[in-house]
Amino acid sequence: MDDTEEVERMLINFPARSRYYFVITLDSYFAVCYGAPTISFCLEEHTEIFMKQRKWLDKNHRQDRGADPEHPQKTAYFGYRKVPADKKTQRVLQHFNSIARRYDLMNTLLSFGIHHLWKRTAVKTMALKPGDRVLDVCGGTGDLAILAAETVGESGRVIIYDINRAMIDAGLHKVNNSASKKCIGFIQGNAEELPFPDGYFDYAMVGFGIRNVTRMDQGFKEMCRILKPGGKMMCLEFSRPTAPLFRWLYDIYSFHVMPLLGELIVGSRKAYTHLPESIRTFALPDELTAILKRVGFSQVTARKLTNGIAMLHLAVKA
Ligand SMILES: C[S@@+](CC[C@H](N)C(=O)[O-])C[C@H]1O[C@@H](n2cnc3c(N)ncnc32)[C@H](O)[C@@H]1O
Repeated sequence: MDDTEEVERMLINFPARSRYYFVITLDSYFAVCYGAPTISFCLEEHTEIFMKQRKWLDKNHRQDRGADPEHPQKTAYFGYRKVPADKKTQRVLQHFNSIARRYDLMNTLLSFGIHHLWKRTAVKTMALKPGDRVLDVCGGTGDLAILAAETVGESGRVIIYDINRAMIDAGLHKVNNSASKKCIGFIQGNAEELPFPDGYFDYAMVGFGIRNVTRMDQGFKEMCRILKPGGKMMCLEFSRPTAPLFRWLYDIYSFHVMPLLGELIVGSRKAYTHLPESIRTFALPDELTAILKRVGFSQVTARKLTNGIAMLHLAVKA
């Protein structure tokens, strides 16, 4: 039985599980347990598992994510689980297959629509020009690509590049209904191997996708390679809220409300438990900045969105 199943089994067995009993906050760790006061000793016994299920991974663990290019990683995080690196991509594919149809709806519900503002801000920050060539890595259902296409226009080109056909298909109707559909193209493939020549694009962007890529550094290296010298890369990704109280509320929301909505709307609690877990194993802003510099970008800047729930990194190919 793995940890998730263990926790689910315990929750099911607890009486009065519908009410909060106690909350522990220890810096970034926290656990929320349910039940009547009489079972407190029971909860203490299992605190470790709850903590494990709710934690933001520490620096050393996060840096297991292929930080050393000389020693390719053998394992990779899929949520909180470490899986053989060569199996992670398959798991990611299955994950997005299971949620593709309702992906946009869930994004909007779970973020109260804020993801649209983040994406608009991110694309605006890139300062695109008409005629630019833009690659949308892990482009999924195409929100960023559609926004970028509004600026680059018919003389430009935006490619949605994603490993998952179901995600691309789920966004086709949006692209077809957009005014700039003529400049948007689609390619299915892995972000770790981009099928484009060196220096082909003016801009590369990746929105909420890089944390799913098994060898993230390789993905960034590839984005750097396909950019023209002076070309810009934009990375929009979830991160950790900086205000402790806000982070605490966000943690409760992520581990209780999100999986519940996932179960009700997509029929998968697991998929929406994976989402917060994958965020908590991902590099923090400074670590991401260091990775970007190491793979060849310069002038790396980072901007917090909504107290750090999301981070916007901008980098220039030297
Ligand atoms: C959370 S979605 C983000 C979609 C879109 N960029 C957005 O902002 O809404 C992540 C996307 O990354 C894609 N993806 C995951 N691993 C990938 C990989 N190794 N190569 C290319 N795409 C990948 C998934 O198929 C999925 O469509």
